[in-house]
Amino acid sequence: MKNEIRTEFLGVELSSPLVLPAGVLDISFSSMNQVSAVGAGLVTTKSLTIESRKGHDGPVVAEVEGGMLNAMGLCNPGIDAGLEELKLLKTAAEADVEGPGNCPVNVSIFATDVNGFSDLAERVNNSEADFLELNLSCPNVMDEFGVPLAASEKTVAEIITAVKSVCVKPVIAKLSPNVTSLTRIAGAAAEAGADALCMINTLGPGLEIDIEAGRPVLSNISGGLSGPCVKPVALRLVYECRKSGLSLPIIGMGGITTGEDAVQMLMAGADLVGVGTAVYYRGPGVFGLINEELLSFLKRKGLESITDINRII
Ligand SMILES: Cc1cc2nc3c(=O)[nH]c(=O)nc-3n(C[C@H](O)[C@H](O)[C@H](O)COP(=O)(O)O)c2cc1C
Repeated sequence: MKNEIRTEFLGVELSSPLVLPAGVLDISFSSMNQVSAVGAGLVTTKSLTIESRKGHDGPVVAEVEGGMLNAMGLCNPGIDAGLEELKLLKTAAEADVEGPGNCPVNVSIFATDVNGFSDLAERVNNSEADFLELNLSCPNVMDEFGVPLAASEKTVAEIITAVKSVCVKPVIAKLSPNVTSLTRIAGAAAEAGADALCMINTLGPGLEIDIEAGRPVLSNISGGLSGPCVKPVALRLVYECRKSGLSLPIIGMGGITTGEDAVQMLMAGADLVGVGTAVYYRGPGVFGLINEELLSFLKRKGLESITDINRII
């Protein structure tokens, strides 16, 4: 029997269900090219803002039991520089259709209000991006911008409606786990016209303290939690969205580190699986490793395709 991990997402063929989530690597052509070459089916850029942002001062990451805290502060070179890198990637992919760099690209954007998102979305719409992702959920710039936008059904709906009116590319809403009811927010995003959802962004924020220095490890004091310790929360939230009747495609992420984790995420109801913090544990080659682990699960269970993996609902 031929086992197959190729899949389809919003009408686009992907070589694997694995996604590089936003922000885990820099936005350089070479980073995106590298993970595409080793088995990611879709790569997401860092969240891009209108102007470049320096981000927080270091330390911006802290290793904690079962995961990590980060407070990058949305450092990025700005939308124009980000879209230039994307052009490089797409030009290389055109020159070598079968080679690295040929996987679709999801461009993530972040703004603080509806007009900001519309402005960025228009620029992404005129670029080589395959998908547009709205980061409605960044937790580590709360001091600067207040509660994440994804905490309000009304705001989420307003942003998606505005973005859909200026962008014909598929729009993915990235949601925060740090809300009272993610299912309700997901429903509002679906109703407003999102084409797919991505969940979860980092949990928390959390705090790690250096007891020798007697101060927080992160210069920002707190940061978003990711990695294996958040997996049970991510699985539960994806499952609950499916259980509520949501039919939009979901990119499920949060602590996925092995093929077994990826199978769990698919069983919870995800269509694609993000692999973020695991890149720090297993290296960029983690995409190829998880693809192999997924294939061996299919073989062991006598399944032909990842779409044959039954959801638990
Ligand atoms: C260092 C780092 C930077 C991140 N930057 C972004 C970002 O710019 N935009 C965003 O939407 N999510 C960002 N995230 C969240 C991830 O995309 C992902 O949702 C989260 O880490 C959970 O997945 P994981 O446990 O596999 O890492 C970042 C995560 C990390 C660890």
